[in-house]
Amino acid sequence: MQRRGFVSRFRIVLASANAGTVSELNEFLQPFGYDVISAASGRDALSAIRGGPIDLVLIDYKLPDMPGIRLCQHLKQTPDTDVVPVVMLLPGQSREDRVRSLQAGADDFITRPFDDIELRARVRSLLRVKLLHQRLRNEKLLLEVRLRERTREIEELTLGLVAALEKATEFNDMDTGSHILRVCETSELLARTIGLPDVMSEKIRRYASLHDIGKVAVPHNILKKQDKLTPDEWEEMKRHTLYGYELLVTARADVVAQNIAYYHHEKFDGSGYPQGLAGRQIPVEARIVALADVFDALLSKRCYKAPYPEETALNVIYRDSGKHFDPDLVAAFKVRLPEILEIRDRYRDSTEPG
Ligand SMILES: [Fe+2]
Ligand SMILES: [Fe+2]
Repeated sequence: MQRRGFVSRFRIVLASANAGTVSELNEFLQPFGYDVISAASGRDALSAIRGGPIDLVLIDYKLPDMPGIRLCQHLKQTPDTDVVPVVMLLPGQSREDRVRSLQAGADDFITRPFDDIELRARVRSLLRVKLLHQRLRNEKLLLEVRLRERTREIEELTLGLVAALEKATEFNDMDTGSHILRVCETSELLARTIGLPDVMSEKIRRYASLHDIGKVAVPHNILKKQDKLTPDEWEEMKRHTLYGYELLVTARADVVAQNIAYYHHEKFDGSGYPQGLAGRQIPVEARIVALADVFDALLSKRCYKAPYPEETALNVIYRDSGKHFDPDLVAAFKVRLPEILEIRDRYRDSTEPG
C-alpha cells in the first residue's frame, strides 16, 4: 500500500446512491482534509476501493445492487481490505440495524439525521486506530525480517564452529579428516538401514564428526604415546568422552551430538565407559557411531598399531556382536558391507596406498 504522511489528505469512499447523503457528507468532510470518492453502488465502491489506497469507507445501509451490510461483510472478509475501517450509515434508530451492522464487521455507525461534528469525531478516531494498526503490522513485518536474519547468522555461526571443532580434533588427534568423513557416512548408512527417520539419520551423520571432540582437552603426550598407557594415563584418555560432552553442553549443541560424544565408548554388554550402560540404555546414535568408529579404526594406521587386514577387522566386528556392538547393527552392517567398503575407498587417507 502506498505510504502517505499526516499532511496529505485521507481518502474516503462513500458508497451511497442517495444524492442528498452524498452532497451532505461531502460538505461535512471535504473542507476538513478528507477526499471523498463517491460510489453510487456496491460494485462501484468495490472498484474504487480496489483502486486504493483507501483510508475509510462509509456505506449506506441501502444500496441499489446489494445490501450495505453485504458490502461491509465482503470488505471485512477480504485480506487486503479487512483493516480499512467501515462506518455504516443507518436510516434511523433501529436497534436491529445497528446490531446487524456490527455483526457484519462494521467498526462504527451513524444514524440519520447526520451530525457533522459527531461524524468527523468518529472518522478521526477510526483513522487513528487504523494508523496504529498499520504501524504495528509494519513493525511486526520488520521484526520477522530481523528474526530471520538473526536465525541465519546463528546457523552459519554454528556450522562454522562445528567445522572449527572438527579441525581442532584433527590437529590434536591421530584421527585424520578422512577417518571422520568415513565414520560420518557409515553411521548415516547404518542409521537409515535400521529405519531411523531422515532427520535423525542426518543428525547422526553431522554429529558423528564430533565423537572425539573431547580429545582437544587430553594432553598431547597421552594422545601421541606409542607405548602402552599407564593406568592413570588411560583414565585421562577415557575422560575425552566427558570433556566432549561438557564442551557440547556448553555450546548448547543438539542432544544427539552430546550423546555421541559421551556414550560412543559404551559397549552393548555393559563393559564400556564412561557409565557402563548396556543394550538399549545406550542411545542408538552412540551405538551406531561406536560400530562405525571401531571398524574404521581397525582398518586404519594408528601411532600405536598398524592397520588390520580387512578380514581380521571384519572378524573382530562379527565376534563382538552382542558384546561390544548392538547385534541388530552388526546385522545391518553385514547387509551394507559392500557400501561401507566403498565409503573407505572413496575417502582414503593420503598416506594410504591408493
Ligand atoms: Fe573416542
Ligand atoms: Fe574416531
